[in-house]
Amino acid sequence: MHCTEREKELLQLIDRAKIPGHIAIIMDGNGRWAVEKGLPRQEGHRQGVETVRETVRCADKLGVNTLTLFAFSTENWQRPAWEVNYLMSLPEKYFHSELPELIRKNVQVRLTGDAARLPRKVRKAVEDGREATRDNTGMILNFALNYGSRTEILRAVNNLINAKAKGVIKGEVDEKTFSEYLYTAGLPDPDLLIRTSGEKRISNFLLWQLAYSELWFTSVYWPDFSRALLMEAVYDYQQRKRRFGKL
Ligand code: IPE
Ligand code: IPE
Ligand code: MG
Repeated sequence: MHCTEREKELLQLIDRAKIPGHIAIIMDGNGRWAVEKGLPRQEGHRQGVETVRETVRCADKLGVNTLTLFAFSTENWQRPAWEVNYLMSLPEKYFHSELPELIRKNVQVRLTGDAARLPRKVRKAVEDGREATRDNTGMILNFALNYGSRTEILRAVNNLINAKAKGVIKGEVDEKTFSEYLYTAGLPDPDLLIRTSGEKRISNFLLWQLAYSELWFTSVYWPDFSRALLMEAVYDYQQRKRRFGKL
């Protein structure tokens, strides 16, 4: 593996004992990356999948426990059909080429989002990935697909109301119980949120879970995101003092 000077330096600088347990990434800027190169937007998404491959490998090497990747939002259905269709062809391609390696690396695939509304072939690709890796104990690779945080919260509220009516839960709903009704049940909150493409917004991603996450933004478009940038983000995270409201 070829390493740049900065990558070598970062490998020395990063404290292996303080790797963020859960990194969440808003993978943004595929379209602009392509358009600025005079290419169709799909080309940006295609290249974005390559970046996913590399990022997964690098996060796994660094010893990240959970990597959540925002791949498609509930709002992204409002894009033109040709773009939605292209995006919906990618999970199948990704798992087809990557599943053997994910299995070999003991990675466990998960899905965060409303699977029911995904096209059948996408659901099947993710389901197969999930099934083939369900007993794996290494890094959790969590794809946020057809995910929207407000929808997730409302779904939790409605399920809680039903559970309460059936007497499944008693007393007041606390933070712990509420978290268990979200798609991310069982996962720790993200320690570090990365967003590429220069936008500095959350775009309906993990509103509840990001309450105390460290935020890291880069103007680099997702297809150009790299091992080095992931390490820069981790190193920057390690320099911060998380206080959680305390002194
Ligand atoms: C991220 O890139 C991929 C998805 C949101 C599905 P975009 O497609 O949002 O690219 P830009 O932001 O238009 O450049
Ligand atoms: C957020 O990116 C969703 C994903 C990366 C999947 P968008 O491109 O949809 O977000 P906005 O529209 O810029 O807020
Ligand atoms: Mg975008």
